[in-house]
Amino acid sequence: MATPTLEKTGNAEAGFADTPYITATFRIRRFNPEVSDEAQWQDFQISIDPKERVLDALHKIKWELDGTLTFRRSCAHGICGSDAMRINGKNRLACKTLIKDINPEKPILVEAIKGLTVLKDLVVDMDPFFQAYRDVMPFLVTKGNEPTRERLQSPEDRERFDDTTKCILCAACTSSCPVFWNDGQYFGPAAIVNAHRFIFDSRDEGGEQRLEILNDRDGVWRCRTTFNCTDACPRGIEVTKAIQEVKRALITRRF
Ligand code: SF4
Ligand code: FES
Repeated sequence: MATPTLEKTGNAEAGFADTPYITATFRIRRFNPEVSDEAQWQDFQISIDPKERVLDALHKIKWELDGTLTFRRSCAHGICGSDAMRINGKNRLACKTLIKDINPEKPILVEAIKGLTVLKDLVVDMDPFFQAYRDVMPFLVTKGNEPTRERLQSPEDRERFDDTTKCILCAACTSSCPVFWNDGQYFGPAAIVNAHRFIFDSRDEGGEQRLEILNDRDGVWRCRTTFNCTDACPRGIEVTKAIQEVKRALITRRF
């Protein structure tokens, strides 16, 4: 297949003599079930400022070279979690990955995250991921003792689960986990992170229930502590540590 190419567009004409633009090749794994059962790699050459992000490159390709290229994104600022993808073999958010940081002298490989069914190009079926999230009851559980004012919590108690409040449900961790790749039944790191966020919240009363859910054969004990999840998390959450803390809470019943 001929490589679609987008030539440099008039930065010099706009008055900037030293154009920062480079020509980069994006090698994207395409899949369209209406065309073929097989995925195939397609190269796109574009002229782009390496200080831009992979998401900018995907937009450029979609808007100027091939409108059929399909991917999810929303906020473009690392908050919504919708554009996790494998970039040069590593799970990352396209909107947080600068082109200059991923060796643009070589073709940049972009493909869907692993372990979830690819629907089209870079879009996967997130239903199993969100089902696992819902299964751990990611909401405050209390026994009807509604307070007359806000539920107070000490800074020390808040600190206990601060890290896991940062999750944006991007699935970069779960889809980097070899246990999840081999058996999609495993709850996966993201669901456990979100269970952790409530299990260790001093205001919550559903900890025992969540621990029992995660004591299941598809729960925390499937974790093999490979640290892939921690490496993949774009929010810097210590995912493996959170999983270990849930395991320890299951053994000691102290949380
Ligand atoms: S823990 Fe990190 S990698 Fe996993 S879903 Fe949350 S933000 Fe994404
Ligand atoms: S588009 Fe929202 S996190 Fe990247």
